[in-house]
Amino acid sequence: MSIKEQLRDTIDALVQGGKGILAADESSPTIAKRFAAINTESTEENRRRYRSLVLETPDLGKFVNGVILFEETLTQVGSDGVPLPQVAMRQGIVPGIKVDKGKVPLANAPGDEITRGLDGLEERLDAYIALGARFAKWRCVYHIDHHNPGRLAVAQNANVLASYAAICQSKGVVPIVEPEVLIDGDHPIERCAEVSEQVLHEVFHALHQHRVILEAMLLKPSMITPGKAHPGQATPEQVAEWTLKVFQRVVPAAVPGINFLSGGQTPVEATENLNAINCMVKRPWNLSFSYGRALQEPALKAWMGQADRVAAAQSALYHRAKMNGLATLGAYTP
Ligand code: 13P
Repeated sequence: MSIKEQLRDTIDALVQGGKGILAADESSPTIAKRFAAINTESTEENRRRYRSLVLETPDLGKFVNGVILFEETLTQVGSDGVPLPQVAMRQGIVPGIKVDKGKVPLANAPGDEITRGLDGLEERLDAYIALGARFAKWRCVYHIDHHNPGRLAVAQNANVLASYAAICQSKGVVPIVEPEVLIDGDHPIERCAEVSEQVLHEVFHALHQHRVILEAMLLKPSMITPGKAHPGQATPEQVAEWTLKVFQRVVPAAVPGINFLSGGQTPVEATENLNAINCMVKRPWNLSFSYGRALQEPALKAWMGQADRVAAAQSALYHRAKMNGLATLGAYTP
């Protein structure tokens, strides 16, 4: 298969109404935090048990068409000794891989950060492809504050995202481009809209400069919402209106799919907002989810690290996946 055909095949598998992506790519410090909340130690074996539980959830493939894995998971095996990427494939779920190496402060840009990981990316991708990965994810974050994000952070992160996306496509790997405008802060929704428009505009300019094939990528953005500490919260309809207003301005119609992150929204909020977005008038892209916390939080709480609670955790995950699957069709009812 040619590189172009590989990219098209993966996009076709990842862009389907009624389904979305599960982000299960928490880095070691992040999964340790999630496990600490359920009094579970983050050992390699516990991470393997948890990720097996997730990927072995019966019928998860009805509502999930892709899963983003952390590097370690690619080489771990499920309860029956089958490598976890194959466990996903068995369910019709395409395995993907987080390839960025996390963020560091951006020099001379107080309050802003930059994401690392471009060095050696080509070689790492070869290894990930051999282990079954067909798409990748790279996350950049933008803090909202009086002077953040600054021009330098907006330009540099856009450039890094576009370099990563171009390298992935050269290997036949579909890039998920994730510019996350963080929900932290007390700013109103208008400020989130203003920053997101600027960020996305710059990202698509850089993607154009790096000749990234827009038809062979997915965008994973945050929704347009007020800051978490803002006194007035927005209704799902307001979030949907603002999100589509901004995205229609800056996301080309050639992009096949937008898979939102949940970014600190509660599981139910994330479903309600996605549903409201999909109830709006026609738009050019498939609008779906790529949720981490909003899909996994109820499952983690049900599991608590206990072997006899695996089935309860799986049914909590299945339920949230189903609700979000319905939300991609604008068919969710509480
Ligand atoms: P959340 O949905 O928890 O924001 O996670 C998505 C993700 O992959 C962040 O990089």
